[in-house]
Amino acid sequence: MERIFINTPSTKSEILVGHSWENLSELLPETGVVIITDDNILKIYRKKFPDFPVLSVAPGEKSKQLSVIEKLAGGLLELGIDRTGFILAIGGGVVCDIAGFLASVYMRGIRCGFVSTSLLSQVDASTGGKNGVNQGSVKNIIGTIRQPEFVLCDPEMLLTLPDDEFLSGLSELIKTAIIGDRVLFEFIENSRDEILNRNTELLTMLITRAVNFKSIVVTEDERETGLRRILNFGHTYGHAIELERGIMHGFAVALGMELATAFSKKMGYLSADEADRIVRILNAFNLLDNKFIPAEDMEKLIVHDKKKAGSSIHFVFAEGIGQAVVRKMAVSEITDFYREFRKK
Ligand code: GLY
Repeated sequence: MERIFINTPSTKSEILVGHSWENLSELLPETGVVIITDDNILKIYRKKFPDFPVLSVAPGEKSKQLSVIEKLAGGLLELGIDRTGFILAIGGGVVCDIAGFLASVYMRGIRCGFVSTSLLSQVDASTGGKNGVNQGSVKNIIGTIRQPEFVLCDPEMLLTLPDDEFLSGLSELIKTAIIGDRVLFEFIENSRDEILNRNTELLTMLITRAVNFKSIVVTEDERETGLRRILNFGHTYGHAIELERGIMHGFAVALGMELATAFSKKMGYLSADEADRIVRILNAFNLLDNKFIPAEDMEKLIVHDKKKAGSSIHFVFAEGIGQAVVRKMAVSEITDFYREFRKK
């Protein structure tokens, strides 16, 4: 088992990779724990849950709403959970987002920890303390940054993931490799079949490397005022594609990374060989489907995202494989490149 720490001015969070979730009790208080999960996870794992009350939400993005938080808070009150209570999330990104947010506002904040059940949340979403819910079509607009006490990543749990969810998570793993870990990139390049066979020993090593990198970034810049922005590689175009096409996050980010890679090459940050390697690795895992949205829609959605950020767009470029650089770009530069890419 690997233990990785995030130390921020206000908290210390521990990420445990390769720890069996069946030994969870040692991380929990004896009383006052409430489990928050979703109906899919409940169906698969309920029998193995520790013996605490459970509040379950519908699976998927539609549960990321304030009304769900309100309902869950009502559930906590009914169960008599006070300031000494502990929320244990067992689920993927959506469940951890909801539970983390609820823990940060219920009675002005109670303790929480996560068992992260999807590859996407193990390599990215559940580490770093971001949580929140959506408002209409604007994602994660109401939320906080608050580190859970622990995040437990048990790669054995990935064996029950549907293929598309697994691949969607791989996309974020590849992103981490591109922006911060050249050795990780090479491991992924050289172990395609073992990864697709979900070899848990290999996955433990890959997830550990990804979490290690993210913990360094978050420890330095918890509130995303600088370095943490690099985690958004592929996300400027990717978010727009995700919104427009309604596809899974990782697949949209993969298309966004294809675009950001081509843009990085054009800007002179990546050689043609490196850009080819990135596109090859994304294709090796069937993450690219070449279905790009119309340029007018891309423009509209990027402007929409810019309004949310309230500043110019910090675009993330790959600077070789294993490093990234952030540049402030005008919306027109980003949309012009998109038009140019689509003409090719
Ligand atoms: N998923 C990007 C971040 O945690 O900052």
